[in-house]
Amino acid sequence: LAPELTRIDGRLHLEGVALDTLADQYGTPCYVYSRAALTRAYREYADALAAHPAGQGALVCYAVKANSNLAILNVFARLGAGFDIVSGGELARVLAAGGDPAKVVFSGVGKTAAEMRQALEAGIRCFNVESAPELDRLNAVAGELGKRAPISLRVNPDVDPKTHPYISTGLKENKFGVAFDEAEALYARAATLPHIAVTGIDCHIGSQILDPSPFVEALDKILGLVDRLAARGIALHHVDIGGGLGIRYQADDAEPKVRDYLNPLLDKLAGRGLSVVMEPGRRLVGNAGLLLTTVEFLKPNAAKSFAIVDAAMNDLARPALYDAWHEIVPVVERSDAPARTYEIVGPVCETGDFLGHDRQLALAPGDRLALQSAGAYGMAMSSNYNTRPRAAEVMVDGALVHLVRRRETVAELYAGEALLPK
Ligand code: LLP
Repeated sequence: LAPELTRIDGRLHLEGVALDTLADQYGTPCYVYSRAALTRAYREYADALAAHPAGQGALVCYAVKANSNLAILNVFARLGAGFDIVSGGELARVLAAGGDPAKVVFSGVGKTAAEMRQALEAGIRCFNVESAPELDRLNAVAGELGKRAPISLRVNPDVDPKTHPYISTGLKENKFGVAFDEAEALYARAATLPHIAVTGIDCHIGSQILDPSPFVEALDKILGLVDRLAARGIALHHVDIGGGLGIRYQADDAEPKVRDYLNPLLDKLAGRGLSVVMEPGRRLVGNAGLLLTTVEFLKPNAAKSFAIVDAAMNDLARPALYDAWHEIVPVVERSDAPARTYEIVGPVCETGDFLGHDRQLALAPGDRLALQSAGAYGMAMSSNYNTRPRAAEVMVDGALVHLVRRRETVAELYAGEALLPK
């Protein structure tokens, strides 16, 4: 699913590194990322933008929520990326990773006053405001600091992205953004607030979208609104088209090229004097990462055969949460065991703790498996359920290997807890 992942003499390699040796060295479960794949994914955006007149001066703001490891943020910061954050915690990570606050946009429906203060002090580029009360709170907080907060309204264009219902965000019934019909009035009010600087408009319609047409539909609606605002004297400087472009999880998924997604949008923006911001998450990291796990036990049952592995839903929640498919392949192929159909499950005490259903694999205990396309919303959504320390994270770069997060220890997990007094 990524060209950086190859099989040489039966052994899976990521860039120049054999994944079995990496599993020996760092243990499992372990997330592994490819710097080359991260760079390639970012360049796909940068190249598409450079090739289009309306793409000059565009800003790619990596959606930190997809994977917030500092090393990943640092790779993107070095490539010139901005960042889309949804919390003060993510802002702290961006700054710790060397990100430029002037390239940060702040999304999210529940920004606290403290987070607003933190972001204003850092000097971020834009707040993507999602409601009228949020606008009032931001105006008040900026006033206390003697600043003007640059804002976009996140407008809900009510288009159907045709993706999983849990990850579509641009429908009327979703909690996100300002209703399309109310946006104009709220812009008019924002323009009167002393500590608000109206600068842009924003939308995000959902995630894992493989058909680019809903993006065009959403932008059409947004640009209609931009024109109506201009007619009443509210001139915007940028359009933020959100994230959401999908990736290939299975070999036959039709993954659109970034330029085929961006070009129609940039065509519509051409000649308008608006700069464009985007917030891709999954597309930049999803196929740049995988999760290594070890088979603990094989448990053939009459009805189903189970392969119990050392990674679980706490490490990779997507299968349990969305019934998502991750390709599962052996790290070292074996020919001395028959292929069988397995349920790949973790040790967590939940029937929903599965990583893959009905997978044809030749396995023996101790074998390593790689769960592919796990770079996005993998580690970022992991938990400590069942008091399971979170996995180690490693980044390969050519033949080099860097440990970018060591495995958690059990002692760390309850270090903040206390017994009751005697
Ligand atoms: N911008 C905003 C405002 C968002 O809410 C999101 C994702 C993004 C950008 C980045 O979207 P992307 O390019 O990654 O699709 N946990 C789910 C995905 C949740 C997406 C939430 N919002 C999953 O594992 O599929």
